[in-house]
Amino acid sequence: MSKHILVVGGGVIGLSTAFEAARRGHRVTLLEQGRCGGQASGAAAGMLAPFSENGEGPDDFFLLCLASLRLYPDWQQAVKDASGLTFEYSNSGSLNVVYHDSDLLALAGRAAWQQRFGSPPEIVQGAALRALEPALSTAVRAALYHPDESHIYAPDYVRALEAACRRGGVRILERLGEVRIGMPEDERAYVTDAQGQIYEGDCLVICNGAWAGALQEPLGLQLPVYPIRGQICAYELAEPGTVRHMVFGSQGYVVPKANGTLVCGASEDVAGFDTSVTERGIGRLLNWNHRLYPFLEQLQPYHRWAGLRPATQDGYPLLGKLPGRRQLVMAAGHYRNGILLSPVTAQAAIDLIEERTPRVSLGRFAPERFSRLAVR
Ligand code: FAD
Ligand code: GLY
Repeated sequence: MSKHILVVGGGVIGLSTAFEAARRGHRVTLLEQGRCGGQASGAAAGMLAPFSENGEGPDDFFLLCLASLRLYPDWQQAVKDASGLTFEYSNSGSLNVVYHDSDLLALAGRAAWQQRFGSPPEIVQGAALRALEPALSTAVRAALYHPDESHIYAPDYVRALEAACRRGGVRILERLGEVRIGMPEDERAYVTDAQGQIYEGDCLVICNGAWAGALQEPLGLQLPVYPIRGQICAYELAEPGTVRHMVFGSQGYVVPKANGTLVCGASEDVAGFDTSVTERGIGRLLNWNHRLYPFLEQLQPYHRWAGLRPATQDGYPLLGKLPGRRQLVMAAGHYRNGILLSPVTAQAAIDLIEERTPRVSLGRFAPERFSRLAVR
């Protein structure tokens, strides 16, 4: 049965959720306090990298990330078809590099558990490593190569999602100021914008990223969500193709884009909701970048920016219905992986609204998990 779904937040999670809802035939109103894509989502490097971002082991979060990577080929095509816009989606593969023999054991440990999931990763060294990535510093001792990891151009992807939503009939309302959530304990959901305008729907999906912590009081739940600033920069390469893969090291990552730029990120700062760029933050990246690619020592980034990752206390997203409020779904706190997780989150959120069982296990991501801990 078609419902009227309110979505609060116009980042990648809100737009993906609205897109998925509209293509399943629901009526959707998306409410954004500022501009769609104006926060973390427009700032992201766009890596779709579940293996590189999860080195520890195959927990439910890794499986969620992997499920989303697998959805991407069809999902990104659906967004392109529905929007009439295009954006880069590259299956470049990735390299996780180490500088010392003593780190080889850790790489082998990751390879051992990760080989059960998709194309097996491979430890590459010497001539094989130089053949894959010729410009890499000779100080790099070895790398774990993941052929399946991909990336997209995040700002273009978000613009295409917004266009796909508009074309699909989603009503997008921007610059509303802080939208406040009512306490929807009955059958209807409602929110109020900064001017006092009330919007009603059958249900509500909360996709307010790093701002989710503000809902602790109105929802009566512990919601430990914090902004973690990521400072990031991009170089213009004289010869596009000099860097071929996404490359991760202990200090950051680089992502070569099809337009000839090299995106290098990113800091992890506790700075509240401040999105400024600092000399110190970018300086640390620059020092690391040329240890990875010596030719970068001669270059200065042409662009520097920052965004606020929505981090939760345990690093996992808040994804699920809220107890006692079956018309309210939370989809926030995606921290370092919201671009990657956008398709799986959107599908799971709308499955929950439709009272279907999502294909992925969500128990670990229950939004009320911190409140359960607090009463023990
Ligand atoms: P946001 O994009 O922040 O959107 C939330 C929206 O909600 C905002 O537009 C905000 O204005 C709105 N909002 C908040 N409160 C209200 C309210 N009360 N009323 C109305 N609207 C409200 N992820 C990856 O997967 N791969 C990467 O390579 C990657 N790289 C990154 C690099 C950097 C430097 C940063 C900062 C992040 C990166 N991320 C990456 C993480 C990713 O950007 C985030 O996880 C993702 O964008 C979160 O999406 P979101 O929609 O939840 O949040
Ligand atoms: N996932 C990359 C970042 O958050 O910087």
